[in-house]
Formats: sequence, structure tokens, C-alpha cells
Amino acid sequence: MKRFLLSHILSALLIASIATFSGCQQQTGPVSEKQPETPVKSEAPAETNTEVVSEDNTQAFAEKEAAEAALKEAEAIYQKSCQSCHSMSPPAKSAPSIIALAGQYRARYSKKAGAVADMVSFMKAPAVGKSILGSGTFERFGLMPAVSLPDEELEKVASWLWDQYDPNFEGGGDCE
Ligand code: HEC
Repeated sequence: MKRFLLSHILSALLIASIATFSGCQQQTGPVSEKQPETPVKSEAPAETNTEVVSEDNTQAFAEKEAAEAALKEAEAIYQKSCQSCHSMSPPAKSAPSIIALAGQYRARYSKKAGAVADMVSFMKAPAVGKSILGSGTFERFGLMPAVSLPDEELEKVASWLWDQYDPNFEGGGDCE
């Protein structure tokens, strides 16, 4: 009888402990299931973000590199073909300075494309009728000789000239 009772008690304890144990498991179950879910969820957008950011970075980097290359090329053209007459800023050499010219173009053109097209046309075949400068410029310096460079290079140096505009430049006169 005692044995029977003991085994009953034991099995009751066993059942109780299993129930408690599995109950614990059930409790921890969803928690431990949720835990990996949360990082997975937060990882997914993070990964997508990284991709987007790195794509943007690559594009921005490529654009920056292209802009730097274009700038270097234009500066080389200026040094080779324009610098002998055009200084960067006043005093003027035998032609108005580049910064003064940029100011004149910004004052007359609202769009870069139009200014660049007219600069290219002027450099290929300078004429007083095409000039944006006042007559005093021709009295002082005479007319600019034609530049014999490929259109592509003229466009690059003209685009660069437009970008040399300095809003803090106080002069802006045709002959500076
Ligand atoms: C031999 C000297 C000389 C060289 C070289 C020269 N220029 Fe000029 N440039 C002048 C003179 C002088 C003027 C002012 C009179 C005029 O506009 O024609 C002028 C005017 C200009 C103008 C204003 C045009 C206008 O509306 O009157 C631009 C733009 C210009 N130069 C760009 C350039 C660029 C860019 C180069 C190089 C690719 C260059 N020049 C090379 C002498 C030169």
C-alpha cells in the first residue's frame, strides 16, 4: 500500500514537473521565437538601406569624379589656350579677366546653356556684333583672335568659365 502511494506521489510529481517544465517551455517558446524574428525584421530594412546608400554613394562618387575630371580638363585648356591673354582675376592682362567675364555672362544670361553656346560661337569666329561686352573693351584690347580648338574643348572651357562666377566679386566691368 505504501509503495502504491509512493509511486502515485512520484508519478504525480513527475506529471506536475513535466507540466511545469512544458509550461515553462511554452512560455519561453513564443518569446524565444519572437526574439530571432525581431532582429531579422530590423536587419531586412537595414540591408536594403545599406544597398541603397552604397548605390547612392557609388553614383555620387562617380559624378564627383566626372566633375573633377572635367574641371581639370577645362583648367588645362585655359592654361594652354587662354591664360596668355586672360588672367583669372584683375588686373587684366591683354583681355578681360575670367572672373570679370563670368560676371558679365551671368548678368546677361539666365541659363548656362545659352551662354555656353554663344561663347563657343564667339571663340570660333569673334565679331564685335556677337560680343556681350561694351565698346570700351575693343578700344582697350582689340578683338579677340579666333581659337582653333575642337568644339568639344571650346564647350568644356566655356562651361568652366561660366562656373568661375564669383558673387562676391565687386568689379564686373568689361575691362577688368
Ligand atoms: C590672344 C589673346 C586671347 C586669347 C589667347 C584668348 N582670348 Fe578671349 N578675349 C581676348 C580679348 C582681347 C577679348 C576682349 C575683346 C573681345 O571680346 O573680343 C576677349 C574676350 C573673350 C570673351 C568675351 C567675348 C565677348 O562677348 O566679347 C570670352 C568668353 C573669351 N574671351 C574667352 C576666351 C577663352 C575661353 C579663351 C581660351 C580658349 C580665350 N578667350 C583666349 C583675347 C584673347
